[in-house]
Amino acid sequence: MCGIVGYLGPKQAAPVLLDGLTKLEYRGYDSAGVAVLNPDGNIDVVKAKGKLEELKKAVDGGRKLRGNCGIGHTRWATHGEPNEVNAHPHINDEQSIAAVHNGIIENYAELKAKLIRHGYKFYSETDTEVATKLVDYYYKKYGDPLEAISKFSLRVRGSYALAVMFEKYPQTIFAIRKDSPMIIGVADGETFLASDVPAILKYTRNVYYVENLEIARLEKGAVSFYNIDGDEKDKAPVEITWDAASAEKDGYEHFMLKEIHEQPKVVKDTLNSLLHGGEIDFTEIGLTDGELENINGIIIAGCGSAYHVGVVMQYVIEDLARVPVRVELASELRYRNPVTSGELLIVISQSGETADSLAALRAAKERGLKTFAIVNVLGSSIAREADKVIYTKAGPEISVATTKAYSSQLIAGYAFAVKLAKVKKTITDAYYSQLINELFALPEKISSVLENRESIQKFASRTVDKEDVFFLGRGVDYAVSIEGSLKLKEISYIHSEAYAAGELKHGTISLIEKGTLVFGVLTQDMLVEKTVSNLAETQTRGAVVAAVASEGLKLPDDFDRVFRIPETDGHFTASLAVIPLQLFAYYLSVLRGNDVDKPRNLAKSVTVE
Ligand code: F6R
Repeated sequence: MCGIVGYLGPKQAAPVLLDGLTKLEYRGYDSAGVAVLNPDGNIDVVKAKGKLEELKKAVDGGRKLRGNCGIGHTRWATHGEPNEVNAHPHINDEQSIAAVHNGIIENYAELKAKLIRHGYKFYSETDTEVATKLVDYYYKKYGDPLEAISKFSLRVRGSYALAVMFEKYPQTIFAIRKDSPMIIGVADGETFLASDVPAILKYTRNVYYVENLEIARLEKGAVSFYNIDGDEKDKAPVEITWDAASAEKDGYEHFMLKEIHEQPKVVKDTLNSLLHGGEIDFTEIGLTDGELENINGIIIAGCGSAYHVGVVMQYVIEDLARVPVRVELASELRYRNPVTSGELLIVISQSGETADSLAALRAAKERGLKTFAIVNVLGSSIAREADKVIYTKAGPEISVATTKAYSSQLIAGYAFAVKLAKVKKTITDAYYSQLINELFALPEKISSVLENRESIQKFASRTVDKEDVFFLGRGVDYAVSIEGSLKLKEISYIHSEAYAAGELKHGTISLIEKGTLVFGVLTQDMLVEKTVSNLAETQTRGAVVAAVASEGLKLPDDFDRVFRIPETDGHFTASLAVIPLQLFAYYLSVLRGNDVDKPRNLAKSVTVE
């Protein structure tokens, strides 16, 4: 939610900031702005409502933003409607301090009242203006930016990644974060700040992950870090191995389509990182066989698609390793008082910054549970705070709707389940080897499903006017259904529901009428007849039925359309069945003229509750 950037160096700051914001637009896109310290020593601010294009126009057509030091922001509104006044950067009365902020200042009302008592006036409804003026208040009091920021952080509650420019410190940006992501990159004579790596990947791979309550002082080509008491800290950069091209569209019309096509590769890369010499090997992540053997219960937590991966994992782990698994929505788990008895908590998150998932992780740690994370973004908060972490190798995922991260999380989940089963001796060695072979065959099978994209595109063009789409399945097929349905509604804005097939007739079937589209997911030998019967019940009530089904499964011939996927072990079918559903959602979104990569009201990284 919201993206922030900063730049210091020999180049004009504004184009670098706008370029960085383009890469972060997935984090929020209702307004944007930049502030640059001009050569006369003043801070110029340009803001615009709407997508980044509007800001680009305002910067080009309006005042020239000259200067080599600046900060920028793309917003996903929390406090105050999305308009130009509420857009960041925010400034103090004298326009001598400018700040951009990602996060939420929870006690902003109380702080605003305090500042008003001290004579401050407010022009916007945002918590960020309060944050900026609080820094100004402490700066005026103590005369030192570091001290002001340190005092600020002691006074505010909530989450923040805050970057501040002071007119009096022309070649410097000060920054601090708590529970909202921030990275700093350094190249020869240049320094970059951003919410996420893709924003700076084309300039540098030397990246510092700013810790909670760490203050950074950025200068040209250098950065110093301080703790909250102002003591300088040593800190080493991390080298990012992500390919810069992975943050570009690479000829595809949308990032989502590109990322859908990257799935065979990222699945393979994730698999290769977890298997050595043909064996699933967790020694690198510090998870020993002894520890696995002692796992007697698992709680999986995540949000949205990451939660859906958890639902797949529940079926797979319980069936293969015979360990009880509970899947929880992180946003619910964090506020419950669950009964736990030494389970392992697995948190799944692409960004590693989702506020609810992070809170669930922290709550579990407080209860003394061991924690384990499946995360994509290196050095993210969840990755740092979990006891152990598997990194998925999806690379930067730009499209708001997740596809390749979901697929790589599935693979990590399968590897975990298979390894646990092997250690627990609930599967034979022969079956273990067979499962490993099946895992390695998945990338090619995913590629073959992708080859059928045209038939899905055609089907999407026939169904573009549907108002309601239902997805039905049992077992793993239910888990795929909830993901297919989420994908569809988030980018096509078509109403959709996913149901465990047997559950439909307990109420929801009353919504089925002539022409309603019902998608059946049919990959489980044992369950196919049952689900087919449930689909027939919808047909009788006028539904148009389409299916995603494994090759070889016998289906009635009156389905409107059947998309076949290659056979694989029944535990892994989600990896194949989800592909047609991702493509279906994608094409419907394109056909409806939506902004596929940046669907309305959504942000990629949900760092607020
Ligand atoms: C859906 C989607 C979201 C995320 C969810 C969790 O396409 O992308 O539902 O899966 O917001 O995000 P992470 O995985 O970053 O914790």
